[in-house]
Amino acid sequence: MTIEARLRIPVAAALREIQGPVREQLERVPDEMWRIVKADTPLIEAANTHLMGMKGKMFRPTLLLLAASLDGEPSEHATALAAVAELVHLASVVHDDSVDHSNVRRGQPTINALFSHQIAVIMGDYLFSKAVAELVRLGDLEALRAFSSASNDMTLGEMRQLSSYDALNFSERDYFNLNRAKTASLLGAACEVGAICGAPQYRDRLRRFGERLGMAFQVADDLLDYTETESVTGKPSGNDLREHKVTLPLIAALPSMSAVQRSRTEALFANPTPDDGEIADVVAIVAECGGLEYARRQGEAFAQEAEEALDGIPDSDSRESLTDAIAYVMDRRS
Ligand code: IPE
Ligand code: IPE
Ligand code: MG
Ligand code: MG
Repeated sequence: MTIEARLRIPVAAALREIQGPVREQLERVPDEMWRIVKADTPLIEAANTHLMGMKGKMFRPTLLLLAASLDGEPSEHATALAAVAELVHLASVVHDDSVDHSNVRRGQPTINALFSHQIAVIMGDYLFSKAVAELVRLGDLEALRAFSSASNDMTLGEMRQLSSYDALNFSERDYFNLNRAKTASLLGAACEVGAICGAPQYRDRLRRFGERLGMAFQVADDLLDYTETESVTGKPSGNDLREHKVTLPLIAALPSMSAVQRSRTEALFANPTPDDGEIADVVAIVAECGGLEYARRQGEAFAQEAEEALDGIPDSDSRESLTDAIAYVMDRRS
């Protein structure tokens, strides 16, 4: 059942509903982020102001706080950790947009577009180092361990992606390993750290939940790159093909392509600067060959595993929100 059918509200409103049990703490997260990153250096201040003005879905802080509130109100400590989770994410997207030559995120210009690639490199490091310093200030070695391990995985994932682009023989297995590293690791860490704060007995289950949800989340993101426009997602559409990134819809479509379809796809991958028409052609080929359908089914399978990971956690508003977050991930449009 889609989240719209389940909650009888549009998908954007569904996120607000999911965030309901931790709304108060979540509203404090941007201030916490500001406290952590504020700087006197004018250029850093300017980049910070731009970044803090382009609010995302706050999905990782939401998961952390929901996990922290399974057994009662989340603490102030958990709210600071939620800010750390969002900063680690923000650092990764600032770097990712530079690596992906992407000019738009959250409907706003990226740091590399507005300032420069050099500044994006420095800002990503700045945000990450501030997040680490906050973990040290909090004296939370377990959170430091979880977030540093996830950050290391994310770096390895992004590097693996870079060294494998243009590879039409990228396998489904390579793709899932990549997603586990670049995306699922941080969602898993956010859930685990939340559990450590408020429900340590569910730590392993919640980490697994976050990781499985993260796998579904990246499949959904890769589908949105094929199916939605920039005005809906706030990010350039077709950017993965433009950057010669092979994701699940294409991996699944390749074996069913005719010789003509295959050679069109190869031509795009041989062209360093494919135009919008070429990209639209390959998107249509992928859809025709069942790639979108297949990716959706795989995403649903991860979603199912996420749901199973929650087994045994008693009912509460936060538990219900975690369940609804699964359907939201698969139905989201941004
Ligand atoms: C984007 O993450 C990066 C991916 C892992 C796909 P989000 O979709 O959570 O981005 P924001 O934070 O809401 O902008
Ligand atoms: C996820 O990959 C990037 C990170 C985990 C930072 P993408 O490159 O698909 O993310 P978007 O689409 O730019 O948000
Ligand atoms: Mg990207
Ligand atoms: Mg993407």
